[in-house]
Amino acid sequence: MRIIENIAEMRRISDTWRAEGERIAFVPTMGYLHEGHLSLLRAARELGTRSVISIFVNPTQFAPTEDFASYPRDLRKDLDLCAQTGIDAAFVPTAEEMYPEGFQTFIEVTRVTQNLCGASRPIFFRGVATVVTKLFNAVKPHSALFGQKDFQQLVTIRRMVKDLNMDIEIVGHPIIREKDGLAMSSRNTYLRADERPVALRLSRSLQLARQLVNSGERNAAAILAAVSDSITAGGGATIDYARLCDTETIEDVEVVDGPTLLALAVWVGKTRLIDNCVLES
Ligand code: PAJ
Repeated sequence: MRIIENIAEMRRISDTWRAEGERIAFVPTMGYLHEGHLSLLRAARELGTRSVISIFVNPTQFAPTEDFASYPRDLRKDLDLCAQTGIDAAFVPTAEEMYPEGFQTFIEVTRVTQNLCGASRPIFFRGVATVVTKLFNAVKPHSALFGQKDFQQLVTIRRMVKDLNMDIEIVGHPIIREKDGLAMSSRNTYLRADERPVALRLSRSLQLARQLVNSGERNAAAILAAVSDSITAGGGATIDYARLCDTETIEDVEVVDGPTLLALAVWVGKTRLIDNCVLES
């Protein structure tokens, strides 16, 4: 596996591969890899003839009050896992390489970023859209894979690629969960043992919502009330948001009619967890 720190070198390798007719499949990450990431990497290997991961904790998507400094990092272990998964190249730029002195250009996807994480984290999607564009320009992939765990991120990237005529196929990947249902996340490492049962309420409440819809409930307020109660009952969890949205516009809906995104962000102690599912009525 090639390990590349430099944008110019990454481009040279991608240009060579492209000239040889290879198809480059790309998985952008912030590292501290878990089975969710590895599942994306395996899908990338199937999708392309060359697979590239990026590992870069992107400072521009963290607000000053957020966990950029403490975000978990273990590059050596990550690179071992990538090599074991059979990835061709790991692009691991430094912050100076990505954001040199004088950097001042950002990409804003204006509407699908208004609700959910965009409302709670105002600069987040600007940072994500900008870094993903920069990574695309370095890696020059034919396709890029994103997890549905970050559903709004996937919708935002799809929108950006369409709006800016980027010649890249965006592929969504299902949420990978622990055996007990907890959606895998690098941030799960922040959870104390006694917080873990509280964290499980997120995936359980998604199941509850599914049952309600299956038994005929269509009223968004009623579903969200049941979801919120099941998350907060017993204490230890504070809801940032629990919303039912259109899967394309990410605008709130009042009635579940057709595929509808149920999206959650919940604080469990100092850890902010997100999870979601698409309810089919
Ligand atoms: P990160 O949180 O490391 O996630 C990298 C990719 O893995 C994203 O596409 C995310 O949706 C996916 N992923 C994470 N946990 C998953 C799970 N349990 N199941 C399926 N997919 C999962 O998302 C980011 O990094 C950053 O915002 C990034 C796009 C790299 C830009 O900095």
